[in-house]
Amino acid sequence: MYNQIFKRKSVRKYHDKELSGDIIQKIEESIVNLKLYNNKACTLIIEIMTYDDFIRDKKLNFITKKMVIKAPYYLSIKRNHTEDAYINAGYCGEELVLKLKELGLDTCWVGAANVFDRGAEFIIGIAFGYGDTTSSVVRKRDPLEAYYQGDCNNIKIVEALREAPSAKNSQPARVLFKNNEITLYNNNKGDRILKDLNVIDMGIALRHLTLALDYLSIEYTIVKNKDEFIIKTKAGKHE
Ligand SMILES: Cc1cc2nc3c(=O)[nH]c(=O)nc-3n(C[C@H](O)[C@H](O)[C@H](O)COP(=O)(O)O)c2cc1C
Repeated sequence: MYNQIFKRKSVRKYHDKELSGDIIQKIEESIVNLKLYNNKACTLIIEIMTYDDFIRDKKLNFITKKMVIKAPYYLSIKRNHTEDAYINAGYCGEELVLKLKELGLDTCWVGAANVFDRGAEFIIGIAFGYGDTTSSVVRKRDPLEAYYQGDCNNIKIVEALREAPSAKNSQPARVLFKNNEITLYNNNKGDRILKDLNVIDMGIALRHLTLALDYLSIEYTIVKNKDEFIIKTKAGKHE
């Protein structure tokens, strides 16, 4: 999955091609095997829907309805009393985005979470299907140095973070390296419009970060401290 981080891009034009039963089964298996960031089984409700079912879903918030892009399929993510639901929607959703890319499918996160979290059940959607695109990945991102402070021993961690998709490309996730700790924090906290969406973005960034750590065989534990994440890594491993 780590390699898919660099191949994924948001795609907004799709072929009408249907998914085979085999592909659907693989996606469903991936959904069943999802873990929350604290390693517990994922309790979010994540469903594969056709475009028509997605836009007719009564739980969809009206802003998302306005923003849907024409894609043959959607993943719909709903809360189901899940703890840190927005973070985990990003964390688990991005894992699926990367799994879909592995299966040759393109994606685009779609939606406006309620600007102020009123506990709504629907969180966000992910459009997907066979993308109608031949262009290569071109990122609009800040320079790599903008994403971190402190003594970074492995720039691959920051590179993976920088690739993360984010609402309106706002790129809120930043890291601070200190001793054997990486603190992941939201650098766009004052933004009242993107508020909840940026929390989803933080979950997405956390997944990119943990995939990079796994790829580098760095052991870690994650502790949430208010809205920051302290990722403790094993001493000396990421030199
Ligand atoms: C939480 C979230 C919501 C998003 N909502 C939309 C959307 O409603 N419509 C859209 O076209 N793109 C949406 N995007 C995609 C971003 O615009 C995209 O990730 C960003 O521009 C960076 O481009 P890239 O994903 O190709 O790297 C969303 C992304 C995230 C993470």
